[in-house]
Amino acid sequence: MRGALITVEGVEGSGKSTQCRRLAALLRGRGLEVVETSEPDGTPLGQAVRGLFELEPRPSPLTQAFLFLAARQEHVTRVIQPALARGAVVLSDRYTDATLAYQGYGQGLDLQTIHELNALATGGLLPDLTLLLDLDPGVGVRRIAGRPLDAFERMDQAFHHRVREGYLELARADKRRVLVFDAAREPDLVHADIARAVDEFLGRRGAPRGA
Ligand code: TYD
Repeated sequence: MRGALITVEGVEGSGKSTQCRRLAALLRGRGLEVVETSEPDGTPLGQAVRGLFELEPRPSPLTQAFLFLAARQEHVTRVIQPALARGAVVLSDRYTDATLAYQGYGQGLDLQTIHELNALATGGLLPDLTLLLDLDPGVGVRRIAGRPLDAFERMDQAFHHRVREGYLELARADKRRVLVFDAAREPDLVHADIARAVDEFLGRRGAPRGA
């Protein structure tokens, strides 16, 4: 049986890494093989690309998209597809929706162009389920204050608001795939809701075989 691709999205400071870790542990406890990964740094190429966003002048939104999409193609080919073929659950911290939210809604790059580039980069591999951790970006920025910020985290509040609204728009347009969670709550409560939703999802599609 083919595995499942679950992606986790949200603004900076929305708690994605914590929730990914906890969901992965839960699913492993149920005997499933889980591959935890992230974009852009799920491959060595993706890790190398990350530093380019810090260059001055800042790469244009289309250049950013090409860089993230190059990283995505490597990620799909080398990590995601092989894991799905083994029947694993792949849990990716960011994927296709991030480019729509950050380069499209956030910076005005044409959404249709991004859809086409995403299709090219992924060979049409869409997430089976997307968990959107929704949070007021002001709260998110306060949560990450004090650690070194990357080029996107340093963007202004208006940008982060457009990213948030963009994600919510994507969720409204694809209610079956994208589930929204209120990430302003205690991590335990968010995790409990995610666990319920993922259980339902796996039950519906027939859970992948355990490792
Ligand atoms: P990272 O520190 O890995 O993300 P996070 O803050 O979620 O842990 O940095 C990734 C940054 O790149 C993040 O600010 C979002 C941004 N990004 C895009 O702008 N477009 C994309 O397609 C992806 C995958 C990420």
